[in-house]
Amino acid sequence: MLKLGVNIDHVATLREARYRGRGGGEPDPIAAARVCVEAGAHGITAHLREDRRHIVDRDVEALRATLKVRFNLELANVPSIVEFALRVKPDVVCLVPERREEVTTEGGLDVQAHMETLQRTIRRFNEGGIDVSLFIAPELKQIEASSRVGTQIIELHTGAFAEAFHVLENRESELGRLVAGARLAKSLGLRVNAGHGLNYENLPELHRVPYLEELNIGHSVISRAVFEGLGRSVKEMLALMQGYVGESGASS
Ligand code: PXP
Repeated sequence: MLKLGVNIDHVATLREARYRGRGGGEPDPIAAARVCVEAGAHGITAHLREDRRHIVDRDVEALRATLKVRFNLELANVPSIVEFALRVKPDVVCLVPERREEVTTEGGLDVQAHMETLQRTIRRFNEGGIDVSLFIAPELKQIEASSRVGTQIIELHTGAFAEAFHVLENRESELGRLVAGARLAKSLGLRVNAGHGLNYENLPELHRVPYLEELNIGHSVISRAVFEGLGRSVKEMLALMQGYVGESGASS
């Protein structure tokens, strides 16, 4: 069965837009994770960025303490975050490239160019009982390099597929890269996940990619939740305003 990991960073982004640096506030990503799990999500994914722009350390600790499903922590291969992750012990870590100026994770890891340091980090996580996934573009040389550095899982970056989706020829070509990538990964003994830019429109096409175990999806799920809940939220606020009499005592 194809599994869903919901990426809850976007909930934290909304919280931080109002409560940055104040410790707390709404919406709470831990409560969001609970709702996702109650709805059937198989896992929860969160990205602890170096600049802590959305998920912060206490979120990661609280997720670890409360989650009964698979907790996948995304992080860059930088010493302070790696040390933190080794202490918190998520079930899986997904190593991603990170640039401070990017809006979201824009590209895949260049595994080929960072073999030694990745190998060291993967070994440390594995020794701590934590599986490692590498977030990479569906490029054969990156998949081969991933196998050589000893990771257990790759997450194929579906961003290019999502971008290409509305031009049939480009979509087919991106799907072809994902199919070939998944096949090669499987033949090398790697487990295959995918994610980034997946939504309610492009997801059905992804069924053509073989060997997928888990999809990590955030933005489209949280965006849809806004409209699923907005009408009800307005009604609840209106109900609280009912019966207002003000100074005049008149209400209409
Ligand atoms: N997987 C990885 C490694 C990511 O960095 C992201 C984005 O944070 C996602 C999946 C989810 O992408 P999206 O929010 O576009 O669904």
